[in-house]
Amino acid sequence: MVGGENRQLRPPQRFASVPIPEPPWEPAWDAPPHGPGFVVTRLTTLTVSACVRRGIEILTGAGIESPRADAEWLLAWCLGVRRMQLYLELDRELNEAQQARFESLLHRRAAREPLQHLLGSAEFYGRSFEVNRSVLIPRPETELLAELSVRHLKKRFGADQCSSPPTNHLERPLKALDYGTGSGCLAITLALEMPPEMVVEISALDISPDALEVARRNSRRHGCEQAVRFLEGNGFAALGSTSLGAGGFDLIVANPPYIPTGEIEGLEPEVRDHDPVLALDGGSDGLDFFRHLASHAPVRLLSGGVLMAEFGDGQFESIAALFRSESWIVDEPAKDDTGRPRFLIARPAAS
Ligand SMILES: C[S@@+](CC[C@H](N)C(=O)[O-])C[C@H]1O[C@@H](n2cnc3c(N)ncnc32)[C@H](O)[C@@H]1O
Repeated sequence: MVGGENRQLRPPQRFASVPIPEPPWEPAWDAPPHGPGFVVTRLTTLTVSACVRRGIEILTGAGIESPRADAEWLLAWCLGVRRMQLYLELDRELNEAQQARFESLLHRRAAREPLQHLLGSAEFYGRSFEVNRSVLIPRPETELLAELSVRHLKKRFGADQCSSPPTNHLERPLKALDYGTGSGCLAITLALEMPPEMVVEISALDISPDALEVARRNSRRHGCEQAVRFLEGNGFAALGSTSLGAGGFDLIVANPPYIPTGEIEGLEPEVRDHDPVLALDGGSDGLDFFRHLASHAPVRLLSGGVLMAEFGDGQFESIAALFRSESWIVDEPAKDDTGRPRFLIARPAAS
């Protein structure tokens, strides 16, 4: 029965004759045969188009909403090219290190790590911001809050008037506060979107020192570290007894945590497991920060100053009632791109 033993040691015929399934370089995924007596020749290198196909397959299987886009972003990142460049290089072959890196990122994405964490950055208002687990990934809807804030400051300065150059009727620098700055996306966008003739003193506070580190790096990345002062502390206490808060602000912009505590567990894994809970948890009904702002923000606003704040879907009526009960004038809420009320615009009645 020696011949029989030998037969067992030879590679099974089906592996020798059929084309190796694509991609063959990932042993866990259609492993090529191996074992005693089996000679593994060099595995086929993957092309860009094969990688994209593989990425789509894996990410679709993991229930990722935009498998193609995510696979392309990850692949472009591994190759150090722009995403659109992939389409010009569909037959380009990846080297082993690139394939291994792409594979590892694909699996992390399939395990629901946010794409932005894997890439290390997120887009906000047309700019790239560093993000990591210490900060909320800036959301597209928050860009509308940035836009409302920019518009308010320009109007207050008079930059929306026809006069050129615009005249600052206030005859002092404008002052803005970003409450709960996270990555710094709002404060930095305000600093960068102001026309050069407008002098705006921008302060940004957060309770998280790690978030503030990221925000500072983002301000350096965008060359506006002199334009934004970052302050650490619990709410308005971060302003301390410095002169910063004493005079008040023309604008307080806030995207505070507003998810009810009990709903956090049911969020998408990307959010629940990777955004900092400090950035999400708004207390039992999600409105803790709005209560705090309603009672403590009026003394922080200058006459004519405005509070603009993002809130969750369905929260407007409760927030408006609570602000009105603290003598605020509450405007019609601004809506997001889907038409849902998402942004509070309010001013203290006395101002
Ligand atoms: C929803 S995130 C918003 C981040 C960023 N502004 C944005 O829009 O992407 C809320 C931020 O508030 C901060 N925060 C939470 N509790 C705070 C507190 N008591 N005082 C100051 N900041 C706080 C969190 O650390 C987090 O960075």
